[in-house]
Amino acid sequence: VDPIFPDRWSPRAFQPDPIPEPQIRSLLEAARWAPSCYNEQPWLFCLAATPDARERVLAALVERNRLWARRAPLLILLAARRTFTATGKLNRHAGFDAGAAWLSLALQARRLGLHAHAMAGFNQDRALAAAGLDRTDWDILAAIAVGRHGDPADLPDDLRALETPNTRKPLADIIRWL
Ligand SMILES: Cc1cc2nc3c(=O)[nH]c(=O)nc-3n(C[C@H](O)[C@H](O)[C@H](O)COP(=O)(O)O)c2cc1C
Repeated sequence: VDPIFPDRWSPRAFQPDPIPEPQIRSLLEAARWAPSCYNEQPWLFCLAATPDARERVLAALVERNRLWARRAPLLILLAARRTFTATGKLNRHAGFDAGAAWLSLALQARRLGLHAHAMAGFNQDRALAAAGLDRTDWDILAAIAVGRHGDPADLPDDLRALETPNTRKPLADIIRWL
């Protein structure tokens, strides 16, 4: 398998240095090319790079995530539109599509020497408020911290112990030949 796949992992230690704007654009450009049902592209990447915007996003995170994510120079709230724009019908695949876009961003991050770490530990209402989005039309699917890998010594002890690439289930457990 291409090394880009096992090379992606989710660190919690980040260097706080800002990400240059061309690199931020590159991340989003990668996400933009993700496939989606009816090419709806239901994703919206709400970017927080200024101190104010980052504080608003951090306030939506659970404490355990805020502890480490506050050092990441770029925080993203990934929203997905609930309905198809053309028909107004429920888009059951919006999450699948936004997930594809997230992984594109995460892999592109590795190409740029950055890491992206997704989080489900956030409050939906606070995240919608931080993104300025309405619950009738949008779901926030994940918060994402992006930056260069930092020094694990900066993390609290319990989080430092997690600062290592993960394992996976064996292939046999996730395949069923039909
Ligand atoms: C949708 C989603 C939600 C996650 N939520 C959190 C979270 O709230 N906090 C956290 O520290 N990590 C979170 N993670 C990171 C996962 O724990 C991590 O991706 C998984 O353990 C696999 O490890 P790896 O990404 O390092 O390969 C989340 C990942 C995904 C994809």
